[in-house]
Amino acid sequence: MAIKISPSVLSADLADLKKDIKRIEESGADRIHFDVMDGIFVDNISFGIPVLKSVSECTDMFLDVHLMIIDPLKYIDAFVDAGADMITFHAESESDISATIEKILSRGIGAGLTIRPKTPVEVMFPYLSKLSNALVMSVEPGFGGQGFIAETMSKVTALRKEIDRNGYKCQVQVDGGINAETAKIAIAAGADDLVSGSYLFKAPDMEKVVEGLRLPD
Ligand code: DX5
Ligand code: ZN
Repeated sequence: MAIKISPSVLSADLADLKKDIKRIEESGADRIHFDVMDGIFVDNISFGIPVLKSVSECTDMFLDVHLMIIDPLKYIDAFVDAGADMITFHAESESDISATIEKILSRGIGAGLTIRPKTPVEVMFPYLSKLSNALVMSVEPGFGGQGFIAETMSKVTALRKEIDRNGYKCQVQVDGGINAETAKIAIAAGADDLVSGSYLFKAPDMEKVVEGLRLPD
């Protein structure tokens, strides 16, 4: 399967987001990753529904929304109305997991589930048949620019095995600390979608580094 690259706009110039969306479009990346933080589920506040709406109005790219918020179920309709193409939420949030997945699916978009680095991967197994995305956080959620936690890669391999054994359609995504080196590790572990923020936005030529992440030598 071709590896997808999903730049995280958390590392974009938020005062000139249109310019950075254009940079992502021209880089050949596959999707835009949109990190929503509420200051309660994680110790940071990012951006939310109105910003997603503005982004969706200025691009046709697939919008992959990662909710790091305490009650995702409450906000599914608002994020779908604002243009989300897929919504991934945390198993450790306070919303009921099944009800949240059903709500996302009832709106006709893909559902994703994710776990913090310390949460056992088996928590995700009962839901994989309904999911489009199983996201393994390779940093503690909340901030861009952190170091990759290599120990989390055993979860990627476990998910890959479980998904392939059952013939599920779910992709395995890795988010946090992805660069040219760690991309190799994540792909070898079985990832098929890599989120990258600080590494991609720091690069003078985003197209070159996107290609490098997809095809690590
Ligand atoms: C962290 C976010 C990530 C983050 C990745 O909570 O979910 O998507 O933006 O940024 P880098 O690639 O800089 O670790
Ligand atoms: Zn993210």
